[in-house]
Amino acid sequence: MGRKVLICRHFLFLRHSGRPPDTRVFPGPQNTITKKLLLGGALYSSAPMLIFPCSEIVTSCLSARFPSSQSFTQDWVTYISKMAAPCVVHSVGTILLDPGHPLPARFRALFTLRNLGGAEAVELIGRGFGDESALLKHELAYCLGQMRDPRAIPVLSAVLRDPGQEPMVRHEAGEALGAIADPEVLALLKEYSQDPVIEVAETCQIAVRRIEWLQQNPGAPDNNPYLSVDPAPPAEGANISALRATLLDDSCALFERYRAMFALRNIGGREAVLALTDGLQFGSSLFRHEIGYVLGQMQHEAAIPGLAAALERFEENPMVRHECAEALGSIAQEECFKVLQAHMSDEEPVVRESCEVALDMYAYENSNAFQYADGLDQIQKCT
Ligand SMILES: [Fe+2]
Ligand SMILES: [Fe+2]
Repeated sequence: MGRKVLICRHFLFLRHSGRPPDTRVFPGPQNTITKKLLLGGALYSSAPMLIFPCSEIVTSCLSARFPSSQSFTQDWVTYISKMAAPCVVHSVGTILLDPGHPLPARFRALFTLRNLGGAEAVELIGRGFGDESALLKHELAYCLGQMRDPRAIPVLSAVLRDPGQEPMVRHEAGEALGAIADPEVLALLKEYSQDPVIEVAETCQIAVRRIEWLQQNPGAPDNNPYLSVDPAPPAEGANISALRATLLDDSCALFERYRAMFALRNIGGREAVLALTDGLQFGSSLFRHEIGYVLGQMQHEAAIPGLAAALERFEENPMVRHECAEALGSIAQEECFKVLQAHMSDEEPVVRESCEVALDMYAYENSNAFQYADGLDQIQKCT
């Protein structure tokens, strides 16, 4: 846990749990190759990481120094072009769409498709909305939003409109439409801002505000060190107690509270984490679930007691308990394991399944594997 190392020919990749110290891609011709490597989907392309170009001699010395790290010995350009072939996308999609596969493997396949991107990946992810698992379906919508591919708009709009889909799934579809931020969906999002399901209505209200904010602030810099597409831009200012006050103020507009939340996340550190953890006891279910999500991104151990307490509150909304479970999985300390194990038979299917996925995240964080989205390696093993 903490730092993960991948040594490829000519490149050293470093990943950090939680907030990275820096994210850099070196300029020059190597940049093109690096982009090819990242866009080829072999690496978790939106993961914060440091990339160091170095000579073959240096990488072989480093391989010796980091015997526990993964390293490619084959020519990685050949590896990437093989991996990005269309039949590969289809094979990963087969894992995602087959309910016979364990849920954690389907999640990893989903995140691999998200990284691969393209029309076929969008189409395959979109086919999953008939699944039994609300947890999987909400994650499909989340990934489509993170891909920001306008080709996902029709399927996401259909899910948002469908009262037969669970609130958690419809919420994520609305949020994904806000992430894609095509002004053509504004009318739909405004319409569902009045939805009787409060989580859906609040999501659409925030999505409308986000799209309007982007229209008013074109080209605003994105200083999000986590590289996720967030439902609201961070607030300006770095005063933790002022941001905490806005975060916890029930009279404040939800969009502004979200902005304070993302500003606190970007600042990072124990004080910001504790301010955010206080948010688990305030506001609407939607607000509390977003706090859980943000704490999962930060991967800071100071959040464990608050997250565990929220997971253990049976009267809490399952959507909130789900985010807290997955956050504990990515923080991946021993006490997280115990809490997640204790809820593997939870009465609530979404919580039960979240604990299963979270324990897989825990296993990944405590392994030497470089990336969670390892669908390409999985299908290579199968073929
Ligand atoms: Fe969500
Ligand atoms: Fe979620």
